[in-house]
Amino acid sequence: MDLTDKHKILIKKLASGHFFSTQQLADDLGISRTSAWNYLKSLEQVGFELHAVSGKGTRFNQVIELLDSEQVVSHVSPEKQHLVTKLDLLEVCPSTNHHLLQQNSLKPLPNGVVCLAEMQTMGRGRLGKTWVSPYGQNIYVSFVWSFKSGIAALSGLSLACGVAVCRVLEELGVSGHRLKWPNDILWQGKKLGGILVEIQGESQGGYSVVVGIGINYQMSQQASMDIDQPWIDVCTAFGGSIGRNKLAGRLIEQVLDMLGRYEEEGLAPHVDQWNEFDGYKDKSVKILSGKNVTTGVAKGISPNGELILQKADGTQQLIMSGEVSLRLGDA
Ligand code: BTN
Repeated sequence: MDLTDKHKILIKKLASGHFFSTQQLADDLGISRTSAWNYLKSLEQVGFELHAVSGKGTRFNQVIELLDSEQVVSHVSPEKQHLVTKLDLLEVCPSTNHHLLQQNSLKPLPNGVVCLAEMQTMGRGRLGKTWVSPYGQNIYVSFVWSFKSGIAALSGLSLACGVAVCRVLEELGVSGHRLKWPNDILWQGKKLGGILVEIQGESQGGYSVVVGIGINYQMSQQASMDIDQPWIDVCTAFGGSIGRNKLAGRLIEQVLDMLGRYEEEGLAPHVDQWNEFDGYKDKSVKILSGKNVTTGVAKGISPNGELILQKADGTQQLIMSGEVSLRLGDA
């Protein structure tokens, strides 16, 4: 469904969590009560849950903290704000990764361009999956950065990014979150976030990289109906509200800081922390690659970011990320 300006006005009003009568909304929009009610009801299609009480009106089931560029940047430390070359805050886009890849192919973007969106209509996950991206409820953010080094050196980037996300959550008081190789962020085994790194070649050699991060922040059941795996959001895991703008700002700082050092330092400074956040360490796992299944015990990551799999015969196999997925042995 396309969000019109009228939908956006309604969202901004209802984000407060206050009740509004249909007549009030109709007056504000300059339309009939019936049309106002139809606009309101159609918000359910983009994942909002409505709560109507006779005599009071209708409100959203939850208060929504909408994103605001100034607020986001205010949560980036002053000494790191220079890393944010440009912040594009979009209301609705197909995908923040797609947006930056497209802009970058038209005219190369400088390092540190960031794109945040309230909603993605074609959010992309790993292995061609869809990333469910309702309006105002989660974080969808992408970063562009160019590297002179060869593509092999970039294989650890999504792992370094996972560590940066975990550091941010820890700094904001969340605990118990874990990483699942290569790039899932889990809380009690449920998916809290994910990272999608997309690489674009450059004519002068080197590569541009778009790093996209999705974090479930405060997702309604209504919006999550198409998610095919156990999931959780930050507000449920944390039991309180961190603030979407704050979470976005802290993520931007940590990820840009990591990207700025990656060319020189690579994955090395992040390997130990990745292994500390590893949620599958010493667990029996299956590696699925097309129709092939390899089983073993997960032993963390190697210095290059491969998964170390200990096989039944005692040998170790290093698994490259690529097109593989990891499952618990009994799943
Ligand atoms: C995964 O499958 O775990 C990776 C999910 C990555 C989702 C983020 S949301 C921001 C950026 N834009 C996209 O379309 N995908 C990434």
